[in-house]
Amino acid sequence: MAVILGIESSCDETSASVCINGKVINNEIASQAIHEQYGGVVPELASREHQRNIVPVVDHVLTHADINVKDLDGIAYTRGPGLLGALLIGSSFAKSMAASLNIPLIPVHHMKAHVLAHFIDDPKPSYPFICLTVSGGHTQILRVNSATDMIILGQTQDDAVGEAFDKAAKLLGLPYPGGPMIDKLSKEGDPHKFQFAQSEMPDLDYSFSGIKTSILYFLRKQVQRDENFIEQNLNDLAASIQHTLIKMLMDKLVKAAKQEDIKQIAIAGGVSANSGLRQALEQEAEINGWDIFIPDFQYCTDNAGMIAISGHLLHEHEAFGELTDSPLPRMPF
Ligand code: KG4
Ligand code: ZN
Repeated sequence: MAVILGIESSCDETSASVCINGKVINNEIASQAIHEQYGGVVPELASREHQRNIVPVVDHVLTHADINVKDLDGIAYTRGPGLLGALLIGSSFAKSMAASLNIPLIPVHHMKAHVLAHFIDDPKPSYPFICLTVSGGHTQILRVNSATDMIILGQTQDDAVGEAFDKAAKLLGLPYPGGPMIDKLSKEGDPHKFQFAQSEMPDLDYSFSGIKTSILYFLRKQVQRDENFIEQNLNDLAASIQHTLIKMLMDKLVKAAKQEDIKQIAIAGGVSANSGLRQALEQEAEINGWDIFIPDFQYCTDNAGMIAISGHLLHEHEAFGELTDSPLPRMPF
């Protein structure tokens, strides 16, 4: 039994959450709108925003959870992967607080935390399960044996699928982050109107850089013929792009489930908020008799609830860190 404060600052969200005896009771997030005008996250600006937000965000979450800092049994923070300057703010803050309170510091791997977000709410998967982890920086199929034992079965060899969504959206002239916009426009479009070439990868690996190039050349050709092409076909383009990306994700996920003979299937990470992916997962669940696990929207994209629950699970394993630990922008899995 423990009270854990979780802090997330790996990219452009400053977030804090409290986990009391395994129950995540608050999840305060300060999102940084400043990056929109630049069409992507500007690392230097992200660090400054984290610096500005971290104290009020932590203070707010503790007040709302009615927790005194003296009640805390540990502080979990994102050690990596992520932007160095952004990670430095969260880790320095977590370390100072843990040192002053003389309580354990719990370093958390951001991608593993996306997976462990499944232990925030019911129904929770039981081990082992397969998790398709899809975010702006990663695309992985994992076999999750326990909170501390996750095996990568396959992963992208180049771009992440979230990146593919964002880059495709940029080509369509949509604002950053483009994933949610493509999702929204797709609802009104025909997913079979346009086809894009995909790179075939062996085993359970992915490649998403080829499809981006294929979209780029296709659009260039069409726009040369008709400068209003994108505008006039926006919904169908979004739907076709989304359909292609999701089909690529699902084909390998089905293959992984068969290979491992596991029927408990989860999705995690920012792209798991995608309505098309959620639908496709439900369809495959019907066909294959899967039990599926989809996080609540607030726990799909970056949040500290997932860091707090990871802290709770790692606290049980006494997986504590040191005050000398430095952030790891490319933290190994
Ligand atoms: O996990 P996340 O919040 O941050 C990282 O750890 O990267 O994932 C962010 C990614 C972005 O690429 C964003 O476009 C994508 O998740 N995303 C979506 C949707 N919501 C967020 N992609 C497709 N459809 C969505 N509804
Ligand atoms: Zn993330």
